[in-house]
This record gives sequence, structure tokens and C-alpha cells, in this order.
Amino acid sequence: MGHDSPLLMRMEERLQKLLAKAGVASRRGAEQLIRAGRICVNGRPVTELGFKADPDRDTITCDGKAVTFEHKIYVLLNKPAGYVTTMSDPQGRPIVADLLADIPERLFPVGRLDLETEGALLMTNDGELANAVLHPRYEVNKTYEAWVAGFPSANQLQRLEQGIVIEGVMTLPAQVRVLQRKKNQSLMEIILHEGKKRQVRKMFLAINHKVVHLRRTAYGELRLGSLAQGKYRILGTNDLKKIFSNKIPFTIKNILA
Ligand code: URA
Repeated sequence: MGHDSPLLMRMEERLQKLLAKAGVASRRGAEQLIRAGRICVNGRPVTELGFKADPDRDTITCDGKAVTFEHKIYVLLNKPAGYVTTMSDPQGRPIVADLLADIPERLFPVGRLDLETEGALLMTNDGELANAVLHPRYEVNKTYEAWVAGFPSANQLQRLEQGIVIEGVMTLPAQVRVLQRKKNQSLMEIILHEGKKRQVRKMFLAINHKVVHLRRTAYGELRLGSLAQGKYRILGTNDLKKIFSNKIPFTIKNILA
């Protein structure tokens, strides 16, 4: 991991923002608690609204009770085929949570991978970051490698790149290229900014080339690399920066600072 720190929230922030994040009250409500002298930092009442504290170093209390802060954690999992991208499954199938059993935080997946799709799956307890990764506005590339039946023509690939109607909705522009050809199959790389359900499979089906094997290889510049199937690694600040190489969302700039 080198110098990339996985401890992302060790920083000072305004008290009202911290209290809001911890769910004590809304930002406005937290300001009222501060003004009323009900908030203490390291045992001393703080009534100043601009006061900053560090939830990892400082003890913050509200009416004498300790305020607890959830530690934000970001994980890249190499999902094997046959695992459901959920944290529980009524049908009792293997779930991605089984592969993260030694992480105490409750994480959720950032976008789904189908049961039979493998590869990069970002898991976190940070809803803001998850929304930013999934929102087309931030243009986070999701890169897939797909073995498809046959040899799509240049013309067909151009249709995929420009946008193709699947279930009545036009897909956003994509990048598609051929990586390899063998016997009667082609290995394609396809880069999307969006994540409609079974999108890659549906896009190739729309040009009559069925996907026979699908793997997500990257979010932005954050690549799976040599991470073994079924294994995960905890991400640090530099990893998160790689996800947002184009546009870093304002809401998460503070964790990347
Ligand atoms: N597109 C698909 O078809 N399946 C996935 O799991 C992800 C993207």
C-alpha cells in the first residue's frame, strides 16, 4: 500500500458538520445545540460555530453522551462469478458480504455486478462517494472486458459507441475496442459512464453478439491489477483519486484533500 493512507477521515471539520454527519441533528439543529452549550469537545463546552474538531482525536459529547463517528472505509473486491451483489440473499446463494466477513463495518456495493459477472466491485459505507461514482455527471469510467460471440463489425461498434436504444432508452456515448480474437469469439473492451441493469450484455445483444463472459476491470483509473478472485484490498486516498481522474465531486473533495 506504500504511503497511501486508508485512514481517510482523520481531519478537522466544523463541529456542526461533524454532528450532522454523525446523525446527531441536522446542520441547523447542530448549530442550535452548539449555541445552547450542549456540545463539549474534550470536556469543554464549545459555543463558537466556527470551531473545528477531529473525530479521531477529539472526544465530542452532546448532553454529556459521547458522539460516535462511523469510520469511512473503501474496499475493492474482485468478485467471482456465482456471488450475488447484495449483503443478504433470501435464496441462500453466496453473497459478496461473505468475502468481506473480516471487515466489521457494514459496507454496501457501489453499483451491481450480475450473478455471473466477475471483477471490480467497490464496497463502502460512504453514501456520498457511492452516489458520485454512480452519477453520470462525474463521468467515472467503468471498464469491462467482454468475450462476445462472433466478430462485431466496425459499423456495429460505432453504433455502441454513439449510443444504442435498449428497452426504449438511449445509452450514453461509450468507448469500445477489440482486444483479441480467437476461433469464433472476440474479447472486447467497453467503457461506460453509466450502469443500467445488465447494460453491457444488453448492448452487445442489441448488435446480435451475445456476451459469453464478462468482467469489470476498472473504475476510472482504479484497476483490479493482480488482485486475486475473491480477494479484496482496502483503498487509500490515492486509489480514490484514481477513480475520479476527470472531475472530483465537490462533496468528496474533503476526503481526498
Ligand atoms: N453490465 C452487465 O451486463 N452486467 C454487469 O454486471 C455490469 C454491467
